[in-house]
Amino acid sequence: MKIFLDTASVEDIKIANDIIPLDGVTTNPTLILKEGKDYVKTLKEITKIVNGPISAETISLDAEGMVKEGKEFAKIHKNIVIKVPMTPEGMKACRIMTKSGIRINTTLIFSANQALLAAKAGTYLASPFLGRLDDIGEKGTELIKEMRQIYDNYGFKSQILAASIRSTDHVKEVAMMGADIATMPFKVYEQLFKHKLTDEGIKQFLDDWAKLQKDLKKK
Ligand code: E4P
Repeated sequence: MKIFLDTASVEDIKIANDIIPLDGVTTNPTLILKEGKDYVKTLKEITKIVNGPISAETISLDAEGMVKEGKEFAKIHKNIVIKVPMTPEGMKACRIMTKSGIRINTTLIFSANQALLAAKAGTYLASPFLGRLDDIGEKGTELIKEMRQIYDNYGFKSQILAASIRSTDHVKEVAMMGADIATMPFKVYEQLFKHKLTDEGIKQFLDDWAKLQKDLKKK
């Protein structure tokens, strides 16, 4: 499974990418607002760090506006992927841009039927939002299972990008269910490395090493 960072923080992207190269990045207006920086400038910086799909989100509600914005974003770098919402206008925009060679990430997918439609429109990435489904009392990861089955049944090439990930358990579950990609906040990415037994094990080895040095000195 590919791992993307879901952030517009260039600093966090640099830190994560130095550990294990990231497979991609997703951004959205909320994430860029958090950083308070220019969107295009930030996207340019990210393309210099990460060699993989970098999603930039359109804000128009009509297909024409989305295509116009998408074409501008796509000029930034060949790795830019355009986010459009899962709406009829979004799917029109998806078809138009896909035809002209621009890759699309259909965002805000909350049902298997929406995912089916996004695949039929030729989306490159399909983004189900797990955490937000959990927030309204549904089981977000179920959607990944359903999408995997539908995409495999019909040989759709769209990649399932598990989004709105809130925990390391989400990451594990979507990996087991066969999501192609998981995009996650930096906080969750950091936690993936951690286990209390790893920390305890390191401490014990260091303590024993120090004891050995002491013993050797005595001899
Ligand atoms: C994905 O592309 C979205 O940016 C993101 O995962 C949304 O997550 P949230 O529900 O935590 O805002």
